[in-house]
Amino acid sequence: MSETEETLANLLKEDRRFEPPADLAADANLKEEAYARAAADREGFWAEQAERLSWDRKWDQVLDWSNPPFAKWYVGGTLNAAYNCVDRHVEAGRGDKVALHWVGEPVDDKRSITYAELKDEVSQAANTLTELGVEAGDRVAIYMPMIPEAIVAMLACARIGAPHTVVFGGFSSDALASRLEDCQAKVVITADGGYRRGAPSALKPAVDEARAKAADLGHTVAKVLVVRRTGQDLGADGWDDAVDVWWHESVEQASTDHTPRAFDSEHPLYVMYTSGTTGKPKGILHTTGGYLTGAAYTHWAVFDLKPETDVYWCTADIGWVTGHSYIVYGPLANGATQVLYEGTPDSPERGRWWQIIEEYGVTLFYTAPTAIRSFMKQGREIPDRSDLSSLRILGSVGEPINPEAYVWYRHVIGGDRTPVVDTWWQTETGSIMISPLPGVTHGKPGSAMIPIPGVAAEVVTEEGEAVPNGSGGYLVLTEPWPSMLRTIWGDDERFKDTYWSRYEKQGFYFAGDGAKKDTDGDLWVLGRVDDVMNVSGHRLSTTEIESALVSHPKVAEAAVVGAKDEDTGQAVCAFVILRESALGDGASDEQSDIVAELRKHVRKEIGPIATPRQIMIVPELPKTRSGKIMRRLLRDVAEHREVGDVTTLADSSVMELISQGIDSGKGED
Ligand code: PRX
Repeated sequence: MSETEETLANLLKEDRRFEPPADLAADANLKEEAYARAAADREGFWAEQAERLSWDRKWDQVLDWSNPPFAKWYVGGTLNAAYNCVDRHVEAGRGDKVALHWVGEPVDDKRSITYAELKDEVSQAANTLTELGVEAGDRVAIYMPMIPEAIVAMLACARIGAPHTVVFGGFSSDALASRLEDCQAKVVITADGGYRRGAPSALKPAVDEARAKAADLGHTVAKVLVVRRTGQDLGADGWDDAVDVWWHESVEQASTDHTPRAFDSEHPLYVMYTSGTTGKPKGILHTTGGYLTGAAYTHWAVFDLKPETDVYWCTADIGWVTGHSYIVYGPLANGATQVLYEGTPDSPERGRWWQIIEEYGVTLFYTAPTAIRSFMKQGREIPDRSDLSSLRILGSVGEPINPEAYVWYRHVIGGDRTPVVDTWWQTETGSIMISPLPGVTHGKPGSAMIPIPGVAAEVVTEEGEAVPNGSGGYLVLTEPWPSMLRTIWGDDERFKDTYWSRYEKQGFYFAGDGAKKDTDGDLWVLGRVDDVMNVSGHRLSTTEIESALVSHPKVAEAAVVGAKDEDTGQAVCAFVILRESALGDGASDEQSDIVAELRKHVRKEIGPIATPRQIMIVPELPKTRSGKIMRRLLRDVAEHREVGDVTTLADSSVMELISQGIDSGKGED
């Protein structure tokens, strides 16, 4: 057994069980039999799921897997994703049903939008994009706060077949520029700003900067479409008439008539950038028919959605895949009514989320463990002030949920009535792969349980052998699934290498996560086994942050690790060697100035989520004889564990030097 496998095997045993509530079980969308039915005829099962959508032309073949790992699903089928998410509900007589209860961060700033209204707005935006020169196949970047126009923008792109790439509004102009360049975005849709923690926070200036940086890289953005959200002053240089177009002067004046065109099932729907083990983010490509099938089916099955009565709320940002699959495409394809909230959980006060649940009678709630842990810390008095009795299912996503947070979530937020669905998936998988079914599977705190019907997952050894119950290994998906990524934008080789080369012989998709099968055979996802960190449910690559640090003139070398953190799951810890010219006399205030400067630099290069919790200025980094940084040792230091085996270190005194630096408190900030 390798070292990782051994660690994975030594997990605590969890004995608590929560059975599905009887009424939920009796009326559940998916019943126990679905597992066997899907396993017996996987393609037949997925064909059935695709029937949830409206197809202009039905497919000839469910799956073409003749050229792995390049899959084609619903071959020959054509459809329009926006039509499926909006128009068809209006045509079915549900135009007056609320699609979005939007809640702005400033109290009393709210708007409810029906499916009929959404159809008009999406049509207007589609007409405007066409007028701006966007054609099917062109890429459009979206860099927006959580306002309804963000969803309208995504659906308008889908409607005209222009793949969107949504860039999280918390990312810096550099991060935006590299994405604009990588996918050669023709148009950017943005806003003047959004509200964050009670104050307007600008976005448009970052777009201007990113546009200039992209131009330096040789890519020209043709147009920028700007929603006026905060009304903040853009300044004399903040507007370029040749490029910038106001949303209210274009979209809101455009015709509400727009005929959606049917696209091939494999037509690109969007590119979502995510961190990998190298510095360059990967543009994960999702296509239309398979992705939409996966998002709609899982949202219906895992949340047991009853569209007529449920009010659903997912707290993710549309800048992440969760926002794509479980705010936009899944819920809207299913005709759900949902809450969309612009701001932070604690603005203007800590109970804001719970007040929203009470006000709208939210029944299905989907959030991240990092948020749950921060509420746990604040104490139950805050949620206890609101009536949360409408809730019937709680979801968790983004990182492993520790059993204590799971039990607190179920108990305090769910009043012990609600099943918790711990959903494992990834940007690459497009939709939920492993999760309990709330009306079928009992809950076990900390475990994502088993693959949902239609999905085949396994925990395997380095050699690709399934591990026995009670053992750990690597999580793989053993069969293709409709919402699987199709490639990495512009880089088929990297796609093959990253996900499919490790278990090439077996044809497994390697997820990059370690997992354990407990003695019942239930799955526990333990986190990344590669150089990817998970901070508050967001993926960051160690190399990406190292590159940002090294781009600072004072830094000679940097190593970044993810260290355990009570609040955020993992936190960014950096070890930095300064250039001689920056060393000065080593006075501690001088060092803390540099640390502050470097933290600011990382914020600027990537964004606030990547800001290191800790930067330690060190004289050396531990390396193997072949020059590879030994992150395992640095992780030990960052987590204040005793430093592990250093026999492979080129110079084992290095660790002592590093530990001394830490003992003297240098670099802590
Ligand atoms: O490590 C796993 C963790 O998040 C990674 C995927 O991150 P991303 O592509 O940003 O997507 C986040 C939203 C799906 C996974 O490789 N992860 C996600 N959900 C869970 C999880 N780890 C444990 N349990 C989960 N439920």
